[in-house]
Order: sequence, then C-alpha cells, then structure tokens
Amino acid sequence: MTAKPNDRPVARQPAEVLFADELAALAANDKAAKPPGWRLSPVAVRTFILGSDGKELPVTLAGKKAGVAVGKKFYGDDILIDRCIVTLLGNRGLMLVGEPGTAKSMLSELLAAAVCGSSTHTIQGTAGTTEDQIKYSWNYALLLAEGPSTRALVPSPLYSGLKRGLIVRFEEITRSPQEIQDTLISILSDKVLHVPELGEEEGVVLAQKGFNLIATANLRDRGVHEMSSALKRRFNFETVHPIADKDFELELVTQQTQMLLGDSGATARFDPDIMDLLVTTFHDLRSGRSAEGTAIERPSTVMSTAEAVSVAFSAALDAAYFGDGRVQPPHLVRQLVGTVLKDNPDDAKKIRHYFDVVVKARGQKNANWKAYYDARKLLET
Ligand SMILES: Nc1ncnc2c1ncn2[C@@H]1O[C@H](COP(=O)(O)OP(=O)(O)OP(=O)(O)O)[C@@H](O)[C@H]1O
Ligand SMILES: [Mg+2]
Repeated sequence: MTAKPNDRPVARQPAEVLFADELAALAANDKAAKPPGWRLSPVAVRTFILGSDGKELPVTLAGKKAGVAVGKKFYGDDILIDRCIVTLLGNRGLMLVGEPGTAKSMLSELLAAAVCGSSTHTIQGTAGTTEDQIKYSWNYALLLAEGPSTRALVPSPLYSGLKRGLIVRFEEITRSPQEIQDTLISILSDKVLHVPELGEEEGVVLAQKGFNLIATANLRDRGVHEMSSALKRRFNFETVHPIADKDFELELVTQQTQMLLGDSGATARFDPDIMDLLVTTFHDLRSGRSAEGTAIERPSTVMSTAEAVSVAFSAALDAAYFGDGRVQPPHLVRQLVGTVLKDNPDDAKKIRHYFDVVVKARGQKNANWKAYYDARKLLET
C-alpha cells in the first residue's frame, strides 16, 4: 500500500498507512483485553480516535526507540466514539448518519483502521450498486472454462471482509436501491454469505470473528427513512452532529490545514487571526446568527467543517503559488465563492448580506475584518 521508491506518490493514503506509527505505538502499549478478531483493545481504539492528550507512547520503529503521541482526530462528542465502539463489539452493524461533511466517512475509516488494520474493504453506494458488488461476481472466462469454483469467484469487499473477520464499510448506503440494501439483512443477522453455485459445503461462507459493518448515510440525500425496517433493525444508529464549539472547530481546521499543506509540499503561513475569520464565517452562516446576535439567513449550501478545511487549504495554496505565502483575507473570499456559491443564486445574496451587515460592522473595529470586507467584490462572479 505504501509508495515504492520509483512509484509516483499516492494521492491519499488510507488511515492505517497514514497513522501506522500511532497504531504500532498503541498496539505495543495495549495491556487491555482485545475482543476476538480485534487488533487493539476498545480503549486503544478510543485513544486512536480521540488522542493521547500529548502523552508519548514508547515504541520501537524501524529498529529505533521512539515516543509517539497519538493525535486527536475526531472533535466533538467523545461519548459517541464509545458508543460506536460498543456497537462494533456487538451483533449489530453501525450506521453513522448526519449532515454532509460531519466526518462520518472519516470516523468509519478510523474505526476500521484501528479495529482490524484495514479500512479499504469499502463499498460505495450509488443508484447503480448491484447485488454482485455487495456479494460476489465471477471471472466469466474461468467460469465457462472450469465451471463454478472458488478460483472463478471474484469476491466483493464484503465477501473478503466477512471471510477474514474485518470491518467492512458501506459508504452512502441509502443511495443504493432498497432491494439491494436488503441483501445485507441475512448477512448481518446470520453472519453468513451463501454462494449457491459452489454447493452446500463450499458455498457457505461463515464470518470470522471481528467481522462487522459500518455504513454511512447522508441526511441531505435520500434519507434513511427509505431503508427497510428489517434492515434498520440490524443496525445501531448514531447521529454525527456538526461541531458546536467554535474554538474546537478552529483548532481542528488549523490542524487539518497544516496536515494537508505538509502533505502537498506547499509552504504558506496562516495567521491564527485569519483562520479565525474563516471559521467564524462558517460558524455564523451555519448557525444563522452572528456572535453579536444578528440574525443571518443561512445559505442552502452546507457550511460544514469539511468545507471550511477545504476553503482554508485552497486559500493557502492560492497564497503559496500566487502570492507571497501569507494567507490574506482576499484569498479566503476567492475560495468562498466556489464553496458557498454553488448553484443557488439566492445564496449569493445571503453572503453579500452577511458581508454588508456583519463583516462591515466588525471591520470598523478590526483591520483583518476590514480587509475581508474590502475584498467582497471578489464574491461577484
Ligand atoms: N467532528 C469532526 N472531527 C474531525 N474532523 C471533522 C469533524 N467534522 C468535520 N470534520 C472534517 O470533515 C472531514 C471529513 O469529512 P467526511 O467526508 O468524513 O464527512 P462525511 O460526513 O462523510 O460527509 P458526506 O456526508 O458528504 O459524505 C474531515 O477530514 C475533517 O476535516
Ligand atoms: Mg461521507
């Protein structure tokens, strides 16, 4: 999975590769009991997601002794993480639902990476998802030549995950048709997958311990109400909410932007005050009320934390490649255009109103907000 010396670098590494050192350090220091099929104990999985509060864990990496602090990756409801882990320990699948950009996919990837060391057994739900993509398909050349055999069978991520006792992820499950989703009912309740073509013995694939399913569903698309109640009963539902605390969000967006910048090789300076402008804007527009108490009309676009990170990162790239490397308010305004003003002309009016009322007033007391306000003409595309 890691890049070989002559390979071009991988665009994005899965969590188990990206955080391999942290996972190794957690495993080396994990004294608590591990559930069957799990690589880490539930407490260590929790620490992987919520961080070790700066505490360094001793570990030997590539023959050298090192101390690795586990970074905080999910900000918000810590209890939610405990509940998710407990669900994965039990018989039911875990269904993460919520608004777009609330880190559902990230959380499912982190949980899978920590529990079984692999987050890539993933099915993406679309209107075109077929039963074959969920269960298995065939290599037709071999099937015709030799008849049905395990050699001719092409396993799905779910098939291999079940056979090897891994966490399987089903992204955006509600985008796939209900009758296709329902394929999961018997797999989740009996923990077995049948391949009738392989006969009575070979055709019964039993799940190994450690197998479970994490599905995600976005509340803005086709909702979970379109899921059959039989399937709903096989899942524990957890709602992931947007981050309510602005300081938390500021910390997260700063940390993630630095991480993305480090990975991209670009150098840019993001002053905390400028980052604050951005996060405050997202916070105000999402909540529909400014810190001073002014009511603001909320744009129809989702002002999620994930979008804030993407605006911050793009602004930093803009500053690095087209400016002197210091992120300035106009960089933010330019990138806001692509995020907020997507396809709804009314959103443009709402943003302009936000600038004319809230940003302008703050600009009378603060030079950064003034520069932000002065850049508002960039919103007119
Ligand atoms: N509470 C949070 N903790 C950590 N990161 C968060 C949080 N909320 C949002 N993020 C940001 O969101 C990004 C991941 O978004 P992700 O794609 O997982 O969201 P999603 O809920 O799956 O969205 P969608 O419904 O559009 O698929 C993270 O990389 C991070 O930048
Ligand atoms: Mg997602």
